[in-house]
Amino acid sequence: MRVLVVGGGGREHALVWKIAQSRHVNQIYCAPGNAGISKLAECINIKPTDISGLANFAAAQKVDLTVIGPEAPLIAGIVDRFEARGLPAFGPATDPARIEGSKAFAKELMVRYGIPTADYELCSDANTAHETVARWFRRPEVAERGLVVKADGLAAGKGVTVAGTEAEAHGAVDEMMVRKVYGAAGDRVIIEQRLIGEEVSIMAITDGDFIVPLPPSQDHKRVGDGDTGPNTGGMGAYSPVPIVPDDIAERARELVLKPAVAAIRDLGIPYKGVLYAGLIITDEGLKTLEFNCRFGDPETQAVLPLLESDLLEIMDASVNGRLDEVDVTCARGSSACVVAASGGYPGAYETGKLIQGLDRAAQAEGCLVFHAGTREANGQFLTDGGRVLGVTATGPDLRRAVSRAYAGMKQISFEGMHYRNDIAGRALS
Ligand code: GLY
Repeated sequence: MRVLVVGGGGREHALVWKIAQSRHVNQIYCAPGNAGISKLAECINIKPTDISGLANFAAAQKVDLTVIGPEAPLIAGIVDRFEARGLPAFGPATDPARIEGSKAFAKELMVRYGIPTADYELCSDANTAHETVARWFRRPEVAERGLVVKADGLAAGKGVTVAGTEAEAHGAVDEMMVRKVYGAAGDRVIIEQRLIGEEVSIMAITDGDFIVPLPPSQDHKRVGDGDTGPNTGGMGAYSPVPIVPDDIAERARELVLKPAVAAIRDLGIPYKGVLYAGLIITDEGLKTLEFNCRFGDPETQAVLPLLESDLLEIMDASVNGRLDEVDVTCARGSSACVVAASGGYPGAYETGKLIQGLDRAAQAEGCLVFHAGTREANGQFLTDGGRVLGVTATGPDLRRAVSRAYAGMKQISFEGMHYRNDIAGRALS
């Protein structure tokens, strides 16, 4: 098969790495890819949001399957546009992708189909949102815990404020609805109950009927050790997650994924591709924080090395509605991914810094290096983004996976490099 992977981050490097092992693959393209991906795939300079450009390329190169990494092209309708041209693409169509594209859509769907989630109110103007915040803060549990303000639309991984005080909540409303920091994504906001508990992500592959959850993983969103500092795209992940119930994937399938897939089917279009459920285990049981319509990053860098089956076969089966016919098995061990970022990230950062030690890291026991923001110039690897790369290691247990990942990461250096030192820390303590 000839495969095109859309995207250029660590997630896409992990996807390309896994697809390259398929017995069905004979050519991989990646748009736009990165310096690491270019060792496994032919990188082409087309942006993930240039849907016409991607479709023209896929048609000209007779691509058999296009795999879309990021959410933006999915929500913009890439799968529908490819299908209209007879080009198979792995991922949900535009309507189902609203499960990530609109938090209001996702919340309404969860309430209607009995999917456990936090209480919320949707506000369509700033006055109503301020009134709602003030009313909610008169409740003792909100005064004590705070609440969450979420922009309805896609805000590039941002647009969610956990407000500990009423003043912070009003500030978040103003930021989203008055100052329009996230543009039209903040036209409507959700005021939501703040839940406390251990978070876990379940990425499942579905063909709109059959649902296959991959091993659970846990992301580390804050930039600093001990979950301090601002939110990032994700500074590391590990899998599976021993601090949540062993049957979490099964419970997620029954309580969250099955009803969500049924809800989308009731809208008239099957949900195909990856359905990612962000969950939290509270004192009142499992609740759903969010859905994503694609693989998580860095979760994918941690989870795919545990997948023993042929990913391309699984994706092809998802597109063709025969996921029940393929084998999906995962290794019994653990894996951990540590992400290294540019100095200043998630704020402003410089690029073009020389990256050293990549070969030594790749040779370290159990280690894989997945590039994210990198480029190659004159045979050297340079930084080219906020999150620069991830080192994933597998091992017979989580402790060994984590210590191997850090041993690999210690081989790498670039000016300004920083990474968290406590990936999987709570699980190991
Ligand atoms: N790591 C979180 C995400 O991919 O959305």
